[in-house]
Amino acid sequence: MSNQLLTGKKGLIFGALNEESIAWKIAEKAHAQGAELVLSNAPVAMRMGAINQLAEKTQAPVFPADATKMEDLDQLFAQTEAHFGGAFDFILHSIGMSVNVRKGKHYTDLNHDWLAKGWDVSAASFHRVMQTAWKRDSLKEWGSILALTYIAAQRVFPDYNDMADNKAYLESIARSFGYHWGIRKKVRVNTISQSPTPTTAGSGVKGFDAFINYAEQMSPLGNASADDCADYAISLFSDLTRKVTLQNLYHDGGFSQVGVSDAVMEKFLKD
Ligand SMILES: NC(=O)c1ccc[n+]([C@@H]2O[C@H](COP(=O)([O-])OP(=O)(O)OC[C@H]3O[C@@H](n4cnc5c(N)ncnc54)[C@H](O)[C@@H]3O)[C@@H](O)[C@H]2O)c1
Repeated sequence: MSNQLLTGKKGLIFGALNEESIAWKIAEKAHAQGAELVLSNAPVAMRMGAINQLAEKTQAPVFPADATKMEDLDQLFAQTEAHFGGAFDFILHSIGMSVNVRKGKHYTDLNHDWLAKGWDVSAASFHRVMQTAWKRDSLKEWGSILALTYIAAQRVFPDYNDMADNKAYLESIARSFGYHWGIRKKVRVNTISQSPTPTTAGSGVKGFDAFINYAEQMSPLGNASADDCADYAISLFSDLTRKVTLQNLYHDGGFSQVGVSDAVMEKFLKD
């Protein structure tokens, strides 16, 4: 399927780690829809090497940047502008990590240094990315900025741990900064609230397998895959969604609106 929805558009994509990554799928589809891309990831993630395959496939250069470091981001944006020959059209922030989740720390016993680190990587980095683009005036009018989030920002999912709070913060940054982007540059800023998806970050959450099955049974359309998410992201980078901004957009097969499903009820029926 190729409609060339992004022909003539140029974008910077953060967060493709391996083939499972949501950012990987978005990069592939953006390329297929005619976009020119720059890829970035943290230096430590790039050492794993997989991103070079994506770079080849999408004919995109890869520039490393730790999204918690302003000097890295400034250099990355300078490299990206040099590659594109000036301002560009879209940014994908697909970055997340919690040290407490990784190390199995319970929410009632968080290590607060790890909390701060996870918040910086998962939430404040979105502000850092937008502030860098803002100061450099890196985006064209009617551009689009997108980040990925999860419904644990609104409702309790105990094993999502401190990432729930990070996502609430991330979504708030999208609104707060999105306001200024709209006024100054007609750039839109949104978050996609995605179904649980089997990726490196997703699978790190305790009980992920049970949880993804539960979400599947609760969603009238079933869970949205990383591929589905990529299709939605393309629409948000395209000119077909120019007046959509400051939104947290559920992309979850209907999960967010369902109280209980027949499939789940069946498991609780007594004979
Ligand atoms: N997988 C899910 O179930 C799910 C559901 C909803 C939202 N999300 C969100 O989607 C986004 C992408 O995650 P994913 O599921 O594709 O997993 P992933 O592990 O493939 O991607 C996470 C990315 O963050 C990058 N990253 C970590 N620290 C960084 C830093 N300091 N600087 C720059 N990059 C850094 C990693 O290298 C990796 O590429 C995240 O924001 C995640 O929270 C995931």
